[in-house]
Amino acid sequence: MKTVLITGANRGIGLATAKLLKKRKYKVIGIARKKIRNFPGKFFECDLTNQKSIKKLIKQIKNYNIDCLVNNAGTSFGQSIDDLDLDTFDKSINLNLRPAVQLSLELVKNMKKKKFGRIVSISSRAALGRELRTSYSVAKSGLYGFTRTWALELAKFNITVNLVSPGPIMTELHKRNNSQNKSYQKKYLNQNPMRRYGDPSEVAAAICFFISDEASFITGQSLYVCGGMSVGHAPI
Ligand SMILES: NC(=O)c1ccc[n+]([C@@H]2O[C@H](COP(=O)([O-])OP(=O)(O)OC[C@H]3O[C@@H](n4cnc5c(N)ncnc54)[C@H](OP(=O)(O)O)[C@@H]3O)[C@@H](O)[C@H]2O)c1
Repeated sequence: MKTVLITGANRGIGLATAKLLKKRKYKVIGIARKKIRNFPGKFFECDLTNQKSIKKLIKQIKNYNIDCLVNNAGTSFGQSIDDLDLDTFDKSINLNLRPAVQLSLELVKNMKKKKFGRIVSISSRAALGRELRTSYSVAKSGLYGFTRTWALELAKFNITVNLVSPGPIMTELHKRNNSQNKSYQKKYLNQNPMRRYGDPSEVAAAICFFISDEASFITGQSLYVCGGMSVGHAPI
């Protein structure tokens, strides 16, 4: 039975992934700042932006023989160029990028020894560029450089490193960062070729694919789960 560590696992895409992996007989370890009841596996509370908290987590997970890592914890920071400040920029890097690299560095040692590993990071369609999202887009596109470089260095150890890049998925993050005004929502959805929001389970399916044995020869890739929005807008 393979063991998967998922960050940002207490709701949204992370929780949907934990549930699907459990159903597919993986052993799941979840991480977020707040534990939830009935999580389908072991759970550790950790603030991934806090070094003390991460170091404690690293000790806690040391003996778990983790095969796969899903770097999912993240949040979006919306600011125009005029409002952009470097504290927000640092916050975005410290949550959306740094912990993914730090946890991967920690877990890859054991993966190399075992000659097996899967690292899947959750980027975003915003990595391609999205208005009012400098700090978020920079951090999420950083995951591309990380993933592609690690894919090249780790292929000989049978470790794959891939990305899933969601588009608009109806989660707390999306609600927090986008207007819930009805007419805005209508216009927003009309831009999406599929004219609807994605469900967290649809992203979880892509994450689980990269983790599965079926994806054993796929590395350094990004799979967009965005209703086609990374290709273009819906025709007028
Ligand atoms: N929803 C979308 O449309 C969309 C689109 C593109 C990309 N994404 C990406 O998909 C991933 C999951 O997003 P989601 O939509 O499922 O968002 P969500 O429902 O807000 O979940 C975010 C998760 O990250 C955790 N988290 C946040 N800050 C943390 C911290 N400092 N330390 C540890 N955990 C932390 C949260 O738990 P706590 O708050 O309890 O810590 C939560 O489990 C994110 O990386 C996001 O950028 C989402």
